[in-house]
Amino acid sequence: MYFPVYRPRRFRRTENLRRMVRETRLSVDHLVYPLFVMPGKGVKNPVQSMPGVFQLSVDHLLEEVRSVVEHNIPGIILFGLPEKKDEHGSEAYADKGPVQQAIRKIKDKWPDLTVITDVCLCEYTSHGHCGILRGDEVQNDATLEILARVALSHAKAGADIIAPSDMMDGRVGAIRESLDENGFEQTAILAYSAKYCSGFYGPFREAADSAPQFGDRRAYQMDVANSEEALREVALDVEEGADMVMVKPALSYLDIIRRVRDEFDRPVAAYSVSGEYAMIKAAAANGWIDGDRVMMEVLTSIVRAGADMILTYFAKDAAALLQNGYR
Ligand code: PBG
Repeated sequence: MYFPVYRPRRFRRTENLRRMVRETRLSVDHLVYPLFVMPGKGVKNPVQSMPGVFQLSVDHLLEEVRSVVEHNIPGIILFGLPEKKDEHGSEAYADKGPVQQAIRKIKDKWPDLTVITDVCLCEYTSHGHCGILRGDEVQNDATLEILARVALSHAKAGADIIAPSDMMDGRVGAIRESLDENGFEQTAILAYSAKYCSGFYGPFREAADSAPQFGDRRAYQMDVANSEEALREVALDVEEGADMVMVKPALSYLDIIRRVRDEFDRPVAAYSVSGEYAMIKAAAANGWIDGDRVMMEVLTSIVRAGADMILTYFAKDAAALLQNGYR
């Protein structure tokens, strides 16, 4: 079946032909929108490096969630900032913390919207690391206890899915146990399983005020050069009870998404992170690329690689284009 008998261009001639043989369909069903919740009232701070993204107090957050629901996006992921930070990140599990309050209010108004919560300590600790310290080292096992408390406080407030992003060993098991012991066996866990130590998180650290005050995260996040290790991380998390696993970032890790998709029987999420968003926004603002087109190309490629779900700051923009029949 070679040229001239077979001519692949025959199916590229018209949009209707292309539609009929298209292999990957990006749909609003894949999208999850990240939101940053602040303490207080009337807060709406634009994040400079992420045009269109804001730090929001709960009142403004609800307006934003309304818009997410109007875009028919199935879920959000919440990140919280505390009133004040301490060594142990203790505001992360405060019953009246911004995330816990936000979950309750959102669930009051939109019980069907999927609420995912990020579980990590870096936004809440004075040192900006994702766990508690002894000297300059992040302590793994001592951190697990705190993470389990944070997860439980989110579940009690009504979160559907708990997403630990700290990269401590054993955290999925610790969280599952604490949820089950307290009657939250229906609360799901989305594990940030293959989370790389990436330069693409830069803008997020402005949004979440979570930059480490010394050193970096290489002692707990994955080396960007590794892929076998990603599979071991996913295997561990699945064994510990992860209902869904994540690869993060997305664009530079499409190979990992594909490998996880092929080798594990769990839904796969991909986090298209802040730096991926910022790059496209910046280039588009300069007129160097067509921002909408590149956004849709990137999101489609993540689905093509095998992701079932994409966490993306583009969720609303992409949903709007899809609604208008963009292809
Ligand atoms: C918290 C966390 C980070 C991101 C999600 N959860 C930052 C980090 O690990 O430094 C990054 C998300 C993004 O860049 O959009 N640990």
